[in-house]
Amino acid sequence: MGIDLGPLGQQTVPSAALIGLGAITAVSVLFTTLRVILSTFVLPGQSLSKYGPKGSWAVVTGSSDGIGREYALQLAKKGFNLILVSRTASKLESLASEIKQASPNVSTKILAMDFSQNRDSDYASMASLLQGKQVSILINNVGQSHSIPVMFAETPLNEMSNIININCLGTLRATQTVLPSMLPNKKGLVLTMGSFGGLTPTPLLATYSGSKAFLQQWSNALASELAPHRIEVFFVHSYLVTSSMSKIRRSNWQVPTERSFVKTTLSKIGRRGGSVGYTHSGTPYWSHALVAAVITGILGPMNSALLSFNRKMHVDIRNRALKKAERDAQKSKKST
Ligand SMILES: NC(=O)c1ccc[n+]([C@@H]2O[C@H](COP(=O)([O-])OP(=O)(O)OC[C@H]3O[C@@H](n4cnc5c(N)ncnc54)[C@H](OP(=O)(O)O)[C@@H]3O)[C@@H](O)[C@H]2O)c1
Repeated sequence: MGIDLGPLGQQTVPSAALIGLGAITAVSVLFTTLRVILSTFVLPGQSLSKYGPKGSWAVVTGSSDGIGREYALQLAKKGFNLILVSRTASKLESLASEIKQASPNVSTKILAMDFSQNRDSDYASMASLLQGKQVSILINNVGQSHSIPVMFAETPLNEMSNIININCLGTLRATQTVLPSMLPNKKGLVLTMGSFGGLTPTPLLATYSGSKAFLQQWSNALASELAPHRIEVFFVHSYLVTSSMSKIRRSNWQVPTERSFVKTTLSKIGRRGGSVGYTHSGTPYWSHALVAAVITGILGPMNSALLSFNRKMHVDIRNRALKKAERDAQKSKKST
């Protein structure tokens, strides 16, 4: 015989369920908010000494300019020897001598290679440069985007294949080449530069967006594979930073300089910041973290309104870039 709860009971059970659900949602929102705030503003990241002692080696790809150059300079200041890999030998040589002046005890090796060419001989040179060295840190920084936002259907083939060769294949092959010098140490860090362009689909930068989304999946799978070897893998979600890629020279609260972005990143390894739900990943810079928290924690990275907003924004950027190119062309016509 069942208990007759009567009309009062029938109303109470669903409302109690609703109150329970509401309470769980409120606690979860509170917990997520607190986690974002603590991770972004309060808690420090892992100390770099966890990954290897001073005098061990760090490899930085795309290190002759922009964000990669800063990684190299700041890791040198922390006492890591450096293998600098980029396209232009002269830029690498001047960076190496700058490092030598600022940190006389730090050794540097340079490797000029073009990742877009995907040449076996370049990776063989990298492997021979690494021989006998204890590598603690790999910074997969090299990357290329579209020269200006462009419809996928009109993207030149060489731009498309360069982006995939540099961002995806280059990162995979550099990591495979470096790992044998890291695995025996039973510690280490593989840090890869992601982008908001890959965190959320970015129309008119479709190939770049896809390449960074690819790296996200790869990096997380790698993190799980390397965890038993005590090698940490960290994927950095970054919004705009001043550099020749972003074509932004002046910093502001949303767009940090390369120096301040890298300083924050190296102090927040392992912290998620605003990247809600993304393990082995993070948004180190505070203003990027707040935007990421809205995207990942509230809207969802695949949100359709966000996609439309992103398309409109990149159509505007393309139009402005085309107008500027037209003005520049007219100016140079007048001056000749
Ligand atoms: N800047 C941003 O707003 C931003 C935002 C999100 C994510 N990111 C990511 O951060 C990373 C660094 O970006 P960045 O802004 O510092 O770029 P950047 O200023 O354009 O510098 C790129 C670096 O990569 C090297 N490089 C480019 N193509 C190469 C190739 N084919 N082979 C070898 N080296 C090559 C360049 O060497 P050379 O100087 O010798 O050409 C340079 O050292 C990229 O992965 C990018 O996707 C940047």
